[in-house]
This record gives sequence, C-alpha cells and structure tokens, in this order.
Amino acid sequence: MTTNCSHETSSAAPARGPRLALPMLGHTRGSRSAQTCHFRCGDACLTESPSTSSAPAFEQLARQAIARRSLLAGLGAAVVAGAALAPDEARAAGSGRGRGRGSRADAAASAPGALAPAGALAGFAPVGPVAADVDDVVVPDGWDWHSIIAWGDPVERDAPAFDLDAQTPEAQAKQFGYNCDYLTVLPLGGSGKRALLVANHEYTNENIMYPGYADDESLTVEQRMTSMAAHGMSVVEVRRDGPGSPWRAVPSRYGRRITASTTEFALTGPAAGSDLVRTSRDPGGTTVVGTLNNCAGGTTPWGTVLSGEENFQGYFRNTATPDERNAVYGISDTGRGWDLADERFDLTEEPNEVNRFGWIVELNPYDPFSTPRKHTAMGRFRHEGATASVAPDGRVVCYMGDDTGGQHLYKFVSRDRVARNPRQGRENDVLEHGDLSVARFAVEGDPTSDYDGTGEWVPLTRGGRSTVPGMTLEEVLVFTRVAAAAVGATPMDRPEDVERNPVTGKVYMACTNNSGRREPGAANPRVRNRYGHVVEITEAEDQTSTTFTWALPVVCGDPGDPSTYFSGLPASEVMPIACPDNVAFDAHGGLWVSTDGQPGSLDLADALHHVATDGPERGRVRTFLTVPVGAETCGPVVDSVEGSVMVCVQHPGEVDGASIENQVSRFPYDGEVRVPRPGVVQAIKRR
Ligand code: FEO
Ligand code: CA
Ligand code: CA
Repeated sequence: MTTNCSHETSSAAPARGPRLALPMLGHTRGSRSAQTCHFRCGDACLTESPSTSSAPAFEQLARQAIARRSLLAGLGAAVVAGAALAPDEARAAGSGRGRGRGSRADAAASAPGALAPAGALAGFAPVGPVAADVDDVVVPDGWDWHSIIAWGDPVERDAPAFDLDAQTPEAQAKQFGYNCDYLTVLPLGGSGKRALLVANHEYTNENIMYPGYADDESLTVEQRMTSMAAHGMSVVEVRRDGPGSPWRAVPSRYGRRITASTTEFALTGPAAGSDLVRTSRDPGGTTVVGTLNNCAGGTTPWGTVLSGEENFQGYFRNTATPDERNAVYGISDTGRGWDLADERFDLTEEPNEVNRFGWIVELNPYDPFSTPRKHTAMGRFRHEGATASVAPDGRVVCYMGDDTGGQHLYKFVSRDRVARNPRQGRENDVLEHGDLSVARFAVEGDPTSDYDGTGEWVPLTRGGRSTVPGMTLEEVLVFTRVAAAAVGATPMDRPEDVERNPVTGKVYMACTNNSGRREPGAANPRVRNRYGHVVEITEAEDQTSTTFTWALPVVCGDPGDPSTYFSGLPASEVMPIACPDNVAFDAHGGLWVSTDGQPGSLDLADALHHVATDGPERGRVRTFLTVPVGAETCGPVVDSVEGSVMVCVQHPGEVDGASIENQVSRFPYDGEVRVPRPGVVQAIKRR
C-alpha cells in the first residue's frame, strides 16, 4: 500500500495523546478525512502501489542508524546540559551534529539564526497545541491575522464578484482559484508598497463548493469546467501603506489566472516534440493546455515561479490503453469525470495526454502575457515542487521530491549559467537543459560518526544523454520513475518540499509519512511511519556535488512516543509535530515547517512550526500558528525582518460528513458566503 494522501486511519493511534506542554485549545476528535484522498489523489492511497525500486532491504543499515540516534540522544543530553554556552562554544564542546565533515557549509553553519527564532520572530510565544476541530486561525499573543484573498475573490480587472449560486467557468477563470498551496510574494517597483502575490491551486472539493451537489456523477458539464478553471495558478497584485502594514489584494493589469482548461503552456527541453507527448490536437508535441494538481513550488533568482504538477494521475479515465510504463504512476481508472467535458481526459481517445502532465511549470508573473512553460529536462513524476538556487559556478540547482511512499528525491543541475544577481522578471531558458540525478542514501558503518549516513546523486541524464541502460533520453524524462528504480534510487517516505537554507547551505527535505513502509531503510528508519521526519542533507562541496552526508534532525510525532527523535532534546521540551509538508527559510536562516496531516495523526490542527537546526536548540519545535478545522497549512512566507508570516489555508472544512448544506468551517469568516473559502492569510506582529 502507499499513502499518497494525508488521511490516516485512527487504528494505529498512539497509546496516549500528545504531550501537551501548553493548555489545549478546543476539543480533539477524529476529523481528517477520506475526502482528502478522494478529491486530491483520486483514492490512489486505496490501491496497491507497484514496486518501483530494485534497491536492497536496509534493515541492518537502519538498525545502525537507530543505534546511532540513541548514541546521539546521549550526546544531545550533554549538549542540553551545556546550553548556557554560547553557540560556538557549544560546537567546540562537541555538538555540531549533522554537519558534514570538511564541507563548506561548516563555516556557514555558525551563522546566527539557525538556533532559535530570530529578528522580529525572536521570542514569539508558541501557540497550542490546538485541537483539530477548532475553526479558527490561531496566532501568538501580540500578533494579528487577516485574510488577503480567498477563493472567488477577483484577480483580473474585469472579474465579477463571487456568487456562490452563479458559479461559471468564465467567472472562475478571472477569480482566485480553489485550494491554494504554494505561495510567494515578489517585489513590484521599489517603494515596498506594491508586490505580486503568486499562488497555485491544487485541487477542488466539489462536495462543499457547489449548491445542490449530490455526488460526482451528478455534476454538470458547467460545474466540471468551473472546477477546471479553479485549478492552476493566480497572480495577484497586493498593496500596503508601508512595511509592517497589512497587504491587501488589488485587481490590476498584473492580475492573471492560469487554469487547467484555458491556458497554453510551451513544452520545453529534450522530450518536447517527442512521440511520447504528441496528441491529435498537438501533433507537434510542443503545446499543452492547462496544468493539474499544482502543489508546492519555488521562486527562481530571476523572479519567475516554479510549480509542481503532483497528483496528475487522478484526472484521466480508462487506463487500459496507456503505455505500461505509466503503471508506476498509479494512473486512476475513473478520473474525475472531466472526460465528460473534454475527451482528452479519456485515455482511449488520447493515450499520450497523460504524458503531458507531471512536470515542473515555470511562470513569469511580471509579464501578464508571457507563455508559461513545462520543463521536460527536470523529469516527470508526481512533483511536489522545485526550489532553485545558484551554485558558485553560476549553474542553477533544483531539488525536487516525488510525493508517493517509496518514491525518490531528485536534483537538477542546469547546463547553462545565470548572472549572480539576475534581473527580476527577465525570463531565461536555463531550466530547459541540464543534468537530472536521483538520490541514493546509505548508512555509514562508523557508529561514532557525528552524522547518520552518506549518499550519492546517481545520474539519470548527463550532457544531453541518457545514463540509464535501455532507456532513451526522452524515455528517462517522461518515465522518470522507471529510470530511478532502474538505478537503485532509495525509496523514501513521501518526499515533499525540499529547500536549501540560504544561510547555512544545508538542504532540508520533508518526508511527510508512509504508513505502508514495512521495513526500515536508509534515511527512513521507522516502519509504518505515520508522522514523518525531516532529512538534513549536507552536500560535499556545493549544490552541484555528486555526494553528500545526511542526518535526521527531527523524527516527528508526539514527543512522548519513543519512536520520535528531536536531536536528543527531552520530550518535555518539545512540541508535537506530524506530517511535515512544506519547508521555508527566513532571512536569518530559521527553518519553518508547515504540516498536512496533524488532524489524522495527532488529532491536532495543522500548523506552521519553527524548527531549530543547529547548536543546543537543534530539534526544538515551536508552533507559530494553526489553521482551521479540515485545513492544511502550506506555502509559508516568513519575513523575520518586518515581522510578517503568510500561509495558504488549504481545504478548510474538508472533513468527513461535511457537505454543501453541512459545513464545518466558515473560513475566512467574512460573513458573506455560506461555504469555507481556501485562501491566503497574513499574520503581523502588533506594534
Ligand atoms: Fe500536495 Fe505532496 O502535497
Ligand atoms: Ca504539499
Ligand atoms: Ca500537502
């Protein structure tokens, strides 16, 4: 089995509830939701996942890792005992856990901010834990929050106001989409008073969107087309009075919707134009209509936005005919009924259409008329997202997770170079050509080592050629999962967001959970992993290195659960965290982790946590905010200079038993609409 959704049954609940360091807000109850599986991934988690890797069992290796963590726990106690030391003194006294030996990151790791919340976030009063059924956004004392934009609000200048009872594809294609996930804010002009807010829209919850909804079969073609228009991305101009003031959305000439049904994308890179991506409507194989199930993303140094097409497999019907190499993608058999509105979603009609989704998308938000692109050089899988950074030699490196239990972590290194400070909004083709590799993790034999293991980036493509025996370059890029399994990539516990700390140079990956894991493995030490963990990667030299070391700073869950690990901190000093999904860094190098699955695993509201990554604070979790009943927290944008935290509130009210008449959330509580509306909120420090 694979769990591709955050829904978890309650049968394996811990013997006792989360350790509550603070008073509980609200009342716990089981709340999330088989509906998550149904709407997000087409119930992929209810089907058997094909085995995709030839990698060996790691039981012995994992035993070593667990033993090492126990050893580190002892070291950690010593570190805590020495917490009065200054950070550098503590390191000199022997902490330094997780740092790769001899790496350039060592020097950077002593930079301030990775220890505890810093800048305007320093000393915030953690919230919660907050029960899963609380219908509110909870922020620390001394902070206020407000809604910036929500589903249905106007984005384009001629967009109509939201009307629950008169939803149309045309209106939705000009309004903010549903279930926003990735979020970024880009400067517009030099005043600090204008910016472009870019979000993507992962999927739709028809049962709580449309008045009169009875079941999926009863949806009209008009409603299915409206759902297509609610997918995609939004570019929204936001304005404020000045630093520290709240952002507000303003329809403007920059306002733009990207949808699953109305936007043309250019397919780029080596697989563009290949036989594998040609269709009857696009015989050249270079132009794709729409984007599907966009999850996390990234912002490039040149001001464009990347977005991962994740659970694209759930949108197509009739899987008997597709290429058998698509079997490892778990293509659904029923789809979402979109074939009733557009026959390209029926694979008997258009067998290659499914090969045109599952890519990394790049959008230039500064040009409302730009053509968004899908980059085949970066591989095709259930892309969670992609985060870009510039290596010392000017090449661009993207880390990318494939969010399914047993799938892999990838890295793309561009062929071409970019300027050190590229101009914002000036597009380039640097992501159209480069080398793709996949991670193989191992556990080092030395139990006294100060890190858990080693790893290598195994090439899949090099210099415009396939490095996988028996597969062409185009086949590697279109059927990347097949290629990764062929080279023995390490099966991971659902790799979600992966991001490089710009201050320390270390890379952090959220492995969200994997209840289907039956044997421990390298960097995935826990069987039936319901709570997930965070992997810390230290490249040997820089982002372009072919080897790395790794450690597990946090193995998530109720801190009282002995299978958890918080870098040796005692349970009484740590707050609960489960199902890490997105990772982000503030200007001080602080790590922020948002969750998707705390309701189902801990009976707590999903949250945004600060996680200290170095020094005596390493492993300490502090909860900054929580989101309403049924929602996940995603897309964190944390400004530790001004004191602003923005997140997307995705799928509020997505709870078993909820319906259009029986809503459990009214987020964002504006009193005008009868349904919850996914959207973007900003928390601001009170002055
Ligand atoms: Fe859409 Fe992997 O979360
Ligand atoms: Ca996600
Ligand atoms: Ca998620």
